[in-house]
Amino acid sequence: MLTKEEIKALNKKALEMREKSYCPYSGFAVGAGLMTIDGEIIGGCNIENAAYTPGNCGERTAIFNAVSQGKTKFKALAIAGGKKGSSPADYCPPCGVCRQVIREFCGQDFPIILAKTEDDYKLLTLGQLLPESFGPEDLEGEE
Ligand code: THU
Repeated sequence: MLTKEEIKALNKKALEMREKSYCPYSGFAVGAGLMTIDGEIIGGCNIENAAYTPGNCGERTAIFNAVSQGKTKFKALAIAGGKKGSSPADYCPPCGVCRQVIREFCGQDFPIILAKTEDDYKLLTLGQLLPESFGPEDLEGEE
């Protein structure tokens, strides 16, 4: 169960991480807060690149940050995005690539929070965002 306090803390982290966003090309700052199964919150932000395609999304940065610390089991993820320097005008849903990266580590019931402020958010599940998905289990038994 995800408590209101946990949601609030995740949203706070996602909003704070927007300040670290490196987005000189799009001007769209994304932050993410990822809660491990032990309750630790790990952050990430989008990181763009002059060659454009090497850029990385905020959600993926949070997951890669966690995995590189040896943490691969997660409780929930919050995402906040919008014009750099302003509060998010809307909810920022994860892109398709991020949905698949989340799927690698999380199941269908995994909560994904789209935050505008600490208290204004939309709560979805990975199953809603990526139904009928392909994941690690699908490779089991294959040679
Ligand atoms: N972006 C994210 O960080 N997460 C998403 O799921 C949507 C898009 C970033 C990528 C790029 O740096 C900027 O937002 C504009 O697309």
